[in-house]
Amino acid sequence: MADKPTLTTTAGAPVPDNRNSLTAGPRGPLLLQDYQLIEKLAHQNRERIPERTVHANGWGAHGTLKITGDLSRYTCAKVLQPGVETPMLARFSTVAGERGAADAERDVRGFALKFYTEDGNWDLVGNNTPVFFVRDPYKFPDFIHTQKRHPRTNLRSPTAMWDFWSLCPESIHQVTILFSDRGLPVSPMHMNGYGSHTYSLWNHSGERYWVKFHFKTQQGHKYFTNAEAAEVIGHSRESYQEALYGAIERGDYPRWTMQVQVMPEKDADKMPFNPFDLTKVWPHGDFPPIDVGVMELNRNPDDYFAEIEQAAFSPSNIVPGIGHSPDKMLQARIFAYADAHRHRLGTHYEHLPINAPKCPVHNYYRDGEMNTTGCRTGNPDAYYEPNSFAGPIADPRAKEPPLAISGDADRYEHSEGNDDYSQARALFNLFDDGQKERLFENIAESMSGVPEEIIRRQLGHFAKVHPDYADGVRVALGIR
Ligand code: HEM
Repeated sequence: MADKPTLTTTAGAPVPDNRNSLTAGPRGPLLLQDYQLIEKLAHQNRERIPERTVHANGWGAHGTLKITGDLSRYTCAKVLQPGVETPMLARFSTVAGERGAADAERDVRGFALKFYTEDGNWDLVGNNTPVFFVRDPYKFPDFIHTQKRHPRTNLRSPTAMWDFWSLCPESIHQVTILFSDRGLPVSPMHMNGYGSHTYSLWNHSGERYWVKFHFKTQQGHKYFTNAEAAEVIGHSRESYQEALYGAIERGDYPRWTMQVQVMPEKDADKMPFNPFDLTKVWPHGDFPPIDVGVMELNRNPDDYFAEIEQAAFSPSNIVPGIGHSPDKMLQARIFAYADAHRHRLGTHYEHLPINAPKCPVHNYYRDGEMNTTGCRTGNPDAYYEPNSFAGPIADPRAKEPPLAISGDADRYEHSEGNDDYSQARALFNLFDDGQKERLFENIAESMSGVPEEIIRRQLGHFAKVHPDYADGVRVALGIR
């Protein structure tokens, strides 16, 4: 008894009884003055926050990024200099499932990383695939609706998915990855992560390089077939949580090799396709991946809600030496995430310990709901800018070089020749017979119940990738 702390109310007063409500006599009704009971029930009523509109189901851990390569000619980012070690957080996720959905579902996996650098937080909010389904953010909310539940049936709708994909042929590259062997990893540790978008690096001389970030698993790739996944889900809906948590508890720390592909700024114009198009990869032959460092996950969260559910990642979080690119999807994401966090977590979501930078933070933002920090200027008289009271001032050294790419404002149709098929074809041609067979079967299984008109439209896209692709799916579907 003596060595246990005293239970208190939220105001710190000792609680004399945590089991019996205050009532008017042993058999009498409750008294409204039992504020301790009311506080307890009120807290339970407020335990849930809105889940993420996408990527709601997730698993995460803490770790470190250690830079072993040398990118100093491309970037002045301190986090990327040789030998630097940076604490970090990773959250993996599926896209469509709600919180509590089965982990081993065929879906794209989120691969969100937050690096607590000395120049502020750098977030790389990627996926386990190097490309995405659409190239214009205008389509993103509609795409996500097709992945979520049908408003009337409250069921996932293969018809909606295949209707959208068949009407948006730029999706064929990502669709082929999703239904291939790599579309259903056995655990977060056995998949790669990709920043996916083109970002940029810039150095002290003001030179900018376009860059793709990759994280290659050191555990080896491992994937489930649909049948294996069904078996796993039959036993556990939490297979990813078990695998990641278990590995770290055992000291079996998962690692990824960080790599970059680099393109000089001016070379973007010479590419046969738009290097800022998220439906495209950069060929490794032209842009060989360069080893940069190692990311290791080595600490489980003590509290899932505080450290993973409340984690707020945003592509707008960059640091000097790392920049964005004209990728239209990325540009929309620069807006969308902080907006989502202000709604999901509150205006001051960066005051939460998991989101707070580990470097000093100075700004003139004031007040607001759940503001936990008070004065952030170092002097209460400096509560506006400019001021004469030694308040924080902007540092022009953090200025990014200007983007060399710009043009007239318009709503451009930016598919550039509409070649949605050649990269999907290159991928298809890499598959051996067994991989192709499983791709056909996975697609056929997913198309069950989809109207014939939609199936035929999609078969047309498969045929444009490769006649064998369409034929294979047709056979698997049992249609002529
Ligand atoms: C225009 C396109 C996109 C928009 C508007 C968008 C928007 C969002 C929003 C609103 C969230 C929920 C954030 C939260 O509540 O915490 C989210 C989560 C996420 N998105 Fe996107 N997204 C887009 C495209 C992408 C792409 C292309 C990727 C990967 C390359 C991606 C990866 C993720 C990941 C990994 C998460 C979960 C982050 C976490 O673990 O908390 N998204 N997205």
